[in-house]
Amino acid sequence: MKRLAILGSTGSIGQSTLSIVEQFPERYAVAALACGRNLNEAFVQAARWRPKVASMATEELADRLVARLRDAGVTGIEVVHGTQGTVACSTLPEADFVVSAIVGVAGLEATHAAILAGKPVGLANKECMVAAGEILTQAAHEHKVPILPIDSEHNAVHQCLRVGTHAEIKTIWLTASGGPFRQTPLEQFASITPEQALKHPTWVMGRRITIDSATMLNKGLEIIEACRLFDVRPSQVRVTVHPQSTVHSLVEYVDGSILAQISVTDMRLPILYALAYPERPASNLTFDLAALRHLDFEEPDFERFPCLRLAFEAAEKGGAHCIALNAADEVAVEAFLERRIPFTGIPRTIEEVLASTPEVHPATIAEVLATDQEARQSARALLT
Ligand SMILES: NC(=O)c1ccc[n+]([C@@H]2O[C@H](COP(=O)([O-])OP(=O)(O)OC[C@H]3O[C@@H](n4cnc5c(N)ncnc54)[C@H](OP(=O)(O)O)[C@@H]3O)[C@@H](O)[C@H]2O)c1
Repeated sequence: MKRLAILGSTGSIGQSTLSIVEQFPERYAVAALACGRNLNEAFVQAARWRPKVASMATEELADRLVARLRDAGVTGIEVVHGTQGTVACSTLPEADFVVSAIVGVAGLEATHAAILAGKPVGLANKECMVAAGEILTQAAHEHKVPILPIDSEHNAVHQCLRVGTHAEIKTIWLTASGGPFRQTPLEQFASITPEQALKHPTWVMGRRITIDSATMLNKGLEIIEACRLFDVRPSQVRVTVHPQSTVHSLVEYVDGSILAQISVTDMRLPILYALAYPERPASNLTFDLAALRHLDFEEPDFERFPCLRLAFEAAEKGGAHCIALNAADEVAVEAFLERRIPFTGIPRTIEEVLASTPEVHPATIAEVLATDQEARQSARALLT
């Protein structure tokens, strides 16, 4: 029985993880739930799963959760809050496995603490690998802790890498759906609305990652994530646009063989893989191969999606540039969703922030977070 600490349990990945726990009660149980601000969902989950610890983003929300649980007659759950609360969840002695699915760097300290506490991590939170991948992978190496990717592309790569050695890797091919604007004329990009950008053609996800998919910055973050998770150079990672989202990624080996992973477009499968690794439990997440008609692969359009170029440049520089790429994007996406900047303002903001970012390599999580704050401030200054 694996007891899980789920960071970001109220989000899209968190809820899919709980549906896996529901489906495999003989394999998984819930030890801790770290939530943000969604009090209603946090209450429903805490009452259903009875974790040892539940966390909310703020003290006020934690107090309200305590009151609701008390009124409902639910006892025995310790309710904590803030960063210390998420760290308490991720390091809980009763938890055997941590699912890191908080959006943005808010999940960084808890993910780092989980690794230091020797807990295997299922990683959905790519922003944390982008901002502090060098520190996290080093800590994982030192503490002999596996980081199992939940991001579907990296999960696919992880599966394809099981048959070859590191020295045999030629190229990691990350597939991208191309988002909703793959064929939109470039001159219409400035007038794209948040409603249009929030309609992803193949996946249902949180708001930030959906906008990041529309700008393809999400794929940019994944390039950096792949470099860190699989210890490869940016020049060994390529992006291919694959609108069907059927092949989740590929690994090309030096002998010319290319291995691909194909499955349903459902995040429960990579989550199950990460939870069960190295086993493969039988599931009902089947893929109808007979219904498959064709698979398209295209070169990405770097003019249409400048975020891809910016991400490759940041991946080459590493350190503060990767942190600033993520931080500036988060601020810009928020501004776009609040209609303060146009869609095209997202890459423009990131590019300007990166231009003023020094080439330094923060060595601690505190330094990473300070660099993140500086980049956010410079993005906000640009936007006012
Ligand atoms: N969704 C996908 O299909 C997918 C695929 C690959 C990778 N990912 C990655 O997985 C992560 C989560 O994505 P998502 O789509 O699940 O996002 P989401 O639906 O927006 O959920 C985000 C989660 O983070 C929590 N959260 C936000 N700020 C917090 C804070 N300060 N303290 C504690 N918790 C906080 C939210 O809590 P509240 O809702 O309670 O505020 C929620 O549980 C992201 O890094 C994303 O890039 C997602």
